[in-house]
Amino acid sequence: MCGIVGYIGHRDAHSIIIKGLQRLEYRGYDSAGIALFDGKDINVTKTKGKVSDLQDKINSENNTVGNIGIGHTRWATHGVPNDINSHPHYSNSGDLVIIHNGIIENYASIKKELSNRGYTFQSDTDTEVLVNLIEDVQKNGNYKLGKAVQIALNQVVGAYAIAVFDVKKPNEIVAARLGSPLAVGVGDGEFFIASDASPFIEYTNNAIYLKDEEMAVIRIHKDTKIRKVKDDKLVDPYVQTLKLNIEQIEKGGYEHFMLKEIFEQPSAIKDTYRGRLNVNKGIIKMAGVEDNLEKFLNAQKITIVACGTSWHAGLVAEYVFEDLARIPVEVEYASEFRYRNPVISNKDVVIAISQSGETADTLAAIKLAKEKGAFVFGICNVVGSSISRETDAGAYTHAGPEIGVASTKAFTTQITLLSLIALRLAKAKGSISNSDFKRYLIELEMIPEKVEEVLKSDALSKHIADIYKDVSNFLYLGRGFNFPVALEGALKLKEISYIHAEGYPAAEMKHGPIALIDENMPIVVIATKYGHYEKIVSNIQEIKSRKGKIIGIVTKGDTEVKAIADHVIEIPETSELLSPLLTTIPLQLLSYHIAVLLHKNVDQPRNLAKSVTVE
Ligand code: F6R
Repeated sequence: MCGIVGYIGHRDAHSIIIKGLQRLEYRGYDSAGIALFDGKDINVTKTKGKVSDLQDKINSENNTVGNIGIGHTRWATHGVPNDINSHPHYSNSGDLVIIHNGIIENYASIKKELSNRGYTFQSDTDTEVLVNLIEDVQKNGNYKLGKAVQIALNQVVGAYAIAVFDVKKPNEIVAARLGSPLAVGVGDGEFFIASDASPFIEYTNNAIYLKDEEMAVIRIHKDTKIRKVKDDKLVDPYVQTLKLNIEQIEKGGYEHFMLKEIFEQPSAIKDTYRGRLNVNKGIIKMAGVEDNLEKFLNAQKITIVACGTSWHAGLVAEYVFEDLARIPVEVEYASEFRYRNPVISNKDVVIAISQSGETADTLAAIKLAKEKGAFVFGICNVVGSSISRETDAGAYTHAGPEIGVASTKAFTTQITLLSLIALRLAKAKGSISNSDFKRYLIELEMIPEKVEEVLKSDALSKHIADIYKDVSNFLYLGRGFNFPVALEGALKLKEISYIHAEGYPAAEMKHGPIALIDENMPIVVIATKYGHYEKIVSNIQEIKSRKGKIIGIVTKGDTEVKAIADHVIEIPETSELLSPLLTTIPLQLLSYHIAVLLHKNVDQPRNLAKSVTVE
């Protein structure tokens, strides 16, 4: 959470930082700030609100001058969102200025000690404590900024990605990371610092991703020096050439990133299976799986750890793996897994799923699984992310940047990738017949064009959204492979429209949720042709006799549900196992249109952030 950007070079830092913060707003957007060095002083402008509010304030204060600067967009942890708690924060002398993404867990004791030594604090943040700790170290030891930052960071417990600037040494920025991502963009005589590469991709494709407990001293026209925070060892910087391009991180004519990403799903799914699925040869090949095939096949169980939407993809995978590969699967919230004493050993495989690859709970679950000797396989979207580095092996979804806070294409591409793995394992185990294997390959290859077809129901979803946008509650029901889709549909609606919604396995309805049903309750029911269809039809009858409103997601050509439902959205026929890739699309569109009709901020819903790098 929180996005940070820094620039040091010959260009106008203000415009680079503002544009960069706008691209990072998915990480947090309750307040924003910027510090610019105008050749003499550091000038800070900050405000509660969005980057656009910051821009207004910068214009009114005329603080735009400088070729060196740092900026921040915040997702509050310590201290409510207000002007004072916004970053950057000054040290007491006014010489140092800092931006920070993360949490300093022992900030209270450090603050107490610093207060005893006469330091005062304007804000309620842990970050202001950190910058004063750095100043205290610097003064007491007469250290250069880099050394002072290093000593201070060795005293803190928690997570950080920071950038610090010292007015006394205005040709350098010191950056460091532990648990929160940080990339250094390497240009020609200029450097960029950012939480991800999107703020600098139009200036340079060369980036150094700092690893945990690494710090960089970035000097204009000099090589960047990277050291280990703990032992001061110099590290050879590994400069990666990024494939990302600017079009991928812009809205491309869509009103919102979320809509763009929903419509990108046909190509994103194709990108996920490209080079891995070969229908003509009848094979599935993924390096990470091939190299570790024996580990998967000999696993006594597979445990999937993830959070939120990725956890829902894990639940779909549980059904798919057990059905195809006959390997027992458990799906755990990473946040729960990490704090219990799970029965995991070196006979287990743990799969960690994460779009961002930075989710703190998932990272902690991975560490625990590794300590217990399990083989840990990562499924991430963001290339080079912490989870992709921490896991023993893995595979990328290749969905492209997902910027809308509500996850859409990440979900369908995760399911695609997990289905490929399950099919590969089933083939290797002999738990699937050759004809079924071939049939699934053909069906999977056809999913993108079927998603394309479902996307044509956009106008219908909008029409239904208009009818139900003012209700207070929604229910989502599904069975089998589509039960997790019901959970995901409810999550999407809650996140972006703030309407209360619950997802349930359809048969569970009569064990409680049925009490909620009256003429004001819309119920989205996934009632596909091969998914316990008759049972679901009975559930729909039960709802109708209590006057609930049915929005059915049905297979093309359905007549039975159509006759009793208030609305139906059709999906093309596919096997039940792959149907989540289609049934989820109308639910994404329904949530999207409800939120838009309610004038909610679809891409930046309140209180949320795209990557949750705090516990
Ligand atoms: C929901 C959503 C979140 C994320 C969750 C995990 O739309 O975006 O629930 O799915 O925070 O994030 P990753 O997948 O990045 O670990």
